Amino acid sequence: MSIINKYDKYVTKSYGRLPLALKSKGGHCASVISEDDKTYIDFGSGIGTNSLGFCDMDWVAAVCKQAQTLQHNSNYYYNKPGADFAEKLCGITGYANMFFGNSGTEANECAIKTARKYSFDKYGKDRHTIITLLNSFHGRTLTALSATGQPEMHNYFFPFVEGFVHVEANNIADLKAKTDDSVCAVMFEYIQGEGGVIELEQSFVDEIFKLCAERDILTIADEVQTGAGRTGKFLAGEHYGKKADLTTLAKGIGGGLPLGICLAGEKCAGVLTAGTHGSTYGGNPVVLAGALAVLDKVSAPGFFAETVKKGEYIREKLQGLDEVVSISGKGLMLGITLKNKKAVDVMKSSLEVGLLTLTAKEKLRLLPPLTIDYESLDEGLEILKKILI
Ligand SMILES: Cc1ncc(COP(=O)(O)O)c(C=O)c1O
Repeated sequence: MSIINKYDKYVTKSYGRLPLALKSKGGHCASVISEDDKTYIDFGSGIGTNSLGFCDMDWVAAVCKQAQTLQHNSNYYYNKPGADFAEKLCGITGYANMFFGNSGTEANECAIKTARKYSFDKYGKDRHTIITLLNSFHGRTLTALSATGQPEMHNYFFPFVEGFVHVEANNIADLKAKTDDSVCAVMFEYIQGEGGVIELEQSFVDEIFKLCAERDILTIADEVQTGAGRTGKFLAGEHYGKKADLTTLAKGIGGGLPLGICLAGEKCAGVLTAGTHGSTYGGNPVVLAGALAVLDKVSAPGFFAETVKKGEYIREKLQGLDEVVSISGKGLMLGITLKNKKAVDVMKSSLEVGLLTLTAKEKLRLLPPLTIDYESLDEGLEILKKILI
């Protein structure tokens, strides 16, 4: 039986998978090899997860060395990769401490629990509402799905988790109207990723932070997709001159192994106490050894300038095409609005001729590895241009 047939028979069909089985041995960075030995250029990086591409040798070496040293210890003990990674990430971001989980959803769950406990400890029981934005995406567990501001996703799994109120992105009046005395946090993506690569306006972000500061409401930035250098800064909040009380990271920070992080500023650093939260695999040393290699690479001088340059290069090459109406996003997180073609058709046609792309709502989405070289960029862009012309 083929790989695809085995999946179809034995694995839950909760994804709309495309007909491609990857192997990658012999592939590198933005180049990946399929089971039938075809080479593909990758403009998707596993939805922003393989931030250093396939088989980055520093990341591979760090992971392999750690796997041979200590593959796991329970969170009753300590280990060096965890200590070194946490110190470095706090140094880069200015946050006080962090909780380790395994996914973006779990990072957000941790932020939500932290916000509610912060408020409970200070103000008592009924101040628990979390405002999130319409068109947001925060994950797939029942709590993260309840936080997600997409009514069409609030189906089947009733009852959803109480205490989430959704506000229209960039609508200050709506935000003000819904910020009542029950609110303990406002949660948002600076650039809505799954929602279509839509950037929040500076004035709206300013208003969130102003309103929250006035009322001791916490800000939660979901940087699961935008974080770890994807937008040309380590955190997308830096584009806005903002640092949220809590910031969540996942995807690119792990470089391809499961890692979710909830970063806490001084105000929230002591909220979660022994026994209030946990995860068996959270902070796994193999994962964190790889993540430390990601941090080392993206924090090297000049790295983000390169990310920005590559993003601009893609824009320059595509912007003039008649089919391209506009390109949203920052750095190497790009959403392309097409004139006549459907993004999903372009994604499928690209796949047939050797290029991996993504969609986000009606847009074609590109999230190439941050380390992609210009040769691969040119190769992928040539394929894309032929399809778009
Ligand atoms: C902004 C954002 N938050 C949360 C998530 C959920 O992350 P995960 O799939 O790792 O649970 C995603 C995934 O696409 C995301 O883009």
